[in-house]
Amino acid sequence: MALRKKLVVLTGAGMSAESGIATFRDSGGLWEQHRVEDVATPEAWMTNPTLVHQFYNQRRKQLIEAKPNMGHYALVELEQDFDVHIITQNVDDLHERAGSLKVLHIHGELMKMRSTGPSEEVFKVNPEKPEYCLEDKCPEGYPLRPHIVWFGEMVPEYENAAAIAAKADILLIIGTSMQVYPAAGLLHYVKPTVPIYLIDPQDVSIAFRDVHHIKKGASEGMKEFGRMMRTKN
Ligand code: APR
Repeated sequence: MALRKKLVVLTGAGMSAESGIATFRDSGGLWEQHRVEDVATPEAWMTNPTLVHQFYNQRRKQLIEAKPNMGHYALVELEQDFDVHIITQNVDDLHERAGSLKVLHIHGELMKMRSTGPSEEVFKVNPEKPEYCLEDKCPEGYPLRPHIVWFGEMVPEYENAAAIAAKADILLIIGTSMQVYPAAGLLHYVKPTVPIYLIDPQDVSIAFRDVHHIKKGASEGMKEFGRMMRTKN
């Protein structure tokens, strides 16, 4: 049986927009409602951890109510014909809840907390108890923080993501403005001969590479992408 082609998918907040989760930089997006410096930096955590907890508690409660959309499910379907690897900037668990098998989160996960102690142990959030505060401690007694990569922090999974991107036979980008590095730099690891597809209702500037832009939302865009792949393969 012929080896299935490696379809590497880089997703961003737009992937979950149709599930009712706000993106960051669109109008009415999260960074219009909150200052990054107040809620998504190590300095914010040092200065006002309660405000940081409130911000992620609110997002966690919203996520628990949300459901994967047709775009998420279409990616699962493609696993029948392709070896699909998802590299997501999203901290939501909608890819996994839709059934995707290979999902790498490079900006952390909302449904996990991490010890601020030397162990940096990671704990799953109980969906029944999604809210955290400063009193919540790890077994060693250190405060728990959201398991999220904040601005100014290292991206521990980046090397793994780059290795996956380097093996792509096809690259599909869905719902990311490609403004945040080093995530947007993953393109540099994709072989020059690899075709790149982009699903986004808006223009997204992608330098130095030809991109086949499907100018639609995730669900409708995935229908078109699926048709194209079926005719090509
Ligand atoms: N379907 C597909 N794409 C969409 C949809 C949709 N229904 N709605 C909006 N988009 C697109 C927008 O046009 C935009 O290009 O999704 C993109 C969202 O971009 P951002 O809000 O900048 O989100 P993202 O690129 O994921 O942000 C990257 O920045 O704030 C940090 O850590 C955070 O992971 C995040 C990173």
